[in-house]
Amino acid sequence: MPNCATRIIDEVYWVGVNDHETPCFEGLWALPKGMSYNAYLVRGKEKTALIELTKTTYTDEFIGRVEEIVPLSEVDYIIHNHMEPDHTGAIPAVYKLCPGAEILCTAKAKTFLDQFYGEGERVTAVKDGDSIDLGGRTLKFLSYPWLHWPDTMFTYLVEDKVLFSCDAFGGYGAVDEALFDDQMDLESYWPEARRYLGTIVASYLQHVVKAIDKWVKGGMGIDVLCPSHGPVYRQNPMAIISRYQEWAKNDKKAKVVMIVGSMWGNTHKMGEVVHRRLEEKGIEVKYFDAASAEPGAILGEMLNAGGIVFGAPTYDANIYPKLEYYLMLFKSKKKNGYPVGVFTQNSWNVSVLPKMEAYLKDMKAEIIQPEVVGHGAPNQEVTEALRQLADNLAARITDPCVCSPA
Ligand SMILES: Cc1cc2nc3c(=O)[nH]c(=O)nc-3n(C[C@H](O)[C@H](O)[C@H](O)COP(=O)(O)O)c2cc1C
Ligand SMILES: [Fe+2]
Ligand SMILES: [Fe+2]
Repeated sequence: MPNCATRIIDEVYWVGVNDHETPCFEGLWALPKGMSYNAYLVRGKEKTALIELTKTTYTDEFIGRVEEIVPLSEVDYIIHNHMEPDHTGAIPAVYKLCPGAEILCTAKAKTFLDQFYGEGERVTAVKDGDSIDLGGRTLKFLSYPWLHWPDTMFTYLVEDKVLFSCDAFGGYGAVDEALFDDQMDLESYWPEARRYLGTIVASYLQHVVKAIDKWVKGGMGIDVLCPSHGPVYRQNPMAIISRYQEWAKNDKKAKVVMIVGSMWGNTHKMGEVVHRRLEEKGIEVKYFDAASAEPGAILGEMLNAGGIVFGAPTYDANIYPKLEYYLMLFKSKKKNGYPVGVFTQNSWNVSVLPKMEAYLKDMKAEIIQPEVVGHGAPNQEVTEALRQLADNLAARITDPCVCSPA
């Protein structure tokens, strides 16, 4: 049971922490199955290296875990693959316990380390291809910027072909019931890995593709893959790598993600018309209620969607707030260039279409006509307009002559 230090191969240990308390990762993405912050200890004949730490709240548990193997004062190197606080929050306490340890990370991470913890002075910056010798064991550092932070690198244990890949190939979910790929039901885990990619790494998908390419061209094998979250792959590292590759391709399917907000149900009645009609046209539809959806599930579904539909009522002369959140989120996550259908609902006075259009312009959306404004339950005319919108969107998505979104 990996709520203790766990041997991966000889003198390589998992020394991470499982989190069942935090409701949302980054304060945004639900963690129904918890989260693991993986850290690893590698021992050579002469030196010991610690790769990654943990978040602030788990500092004591983490220190105890490392010290099941070795006192922190005997750690010679601390390696940070990137500076995000889920892996570095324990820095102040850990650094105090190993005053002699050399700190290694990229030059960019060194800047962040100084900003976050005021400890830049202690750091030796490493470059792509640099390595250290632990005594019969070599750790090599490979720069992979923007996967998903600008300071990211991978660490590779050359002789044993063990790759410590930072957040790349990670996923949501704690690993206290099973740490290794051969111990767990991967089919039920993949949606959590896909949701992680969709929420954390999706804005940088081209970097995932490039990273895998760089690795393959580098000709380095991977016998064991140790990401910073989720399971350790000792049986088949390619299982997660090929899935990341597939998801990162962002191939557009005949699929539409619909996000509809409503106070009293009329906007959902409009959404149902579009939903049914799209399905009649052979389009797969993932319909989300903005009031109750998990944003991470929506971003996970966006990985291969070909189009989007937003529906919202007017709320105090503005966009219904729970729907406006998704317009902001999609802009932030660079969901650019998609064909988008839009409908709204007002009965008092103003239409919020111009406000929704402003967001869509920022997303470089191709707004599919007609944009539909309903007034209460959809009447014959509104129903016809909604069907027309669905027909036009379906045609746009399935027409092979029209280029797909960026
Ligand atoms: C709190 C609240 C604020 C509203 N603000 C506006 C408004 O500013 N302008 C408007 O035209 N309609 C406004 N409406 C009317 C709604 O847009 C209208 O009732 C619509 O049918 C609601 O759609 P729904 O049934 O999907 O919630 C408001 C309704 C509520 C409950
Ligand atoms: Fe990260
Ligand atoms: Fe992370």
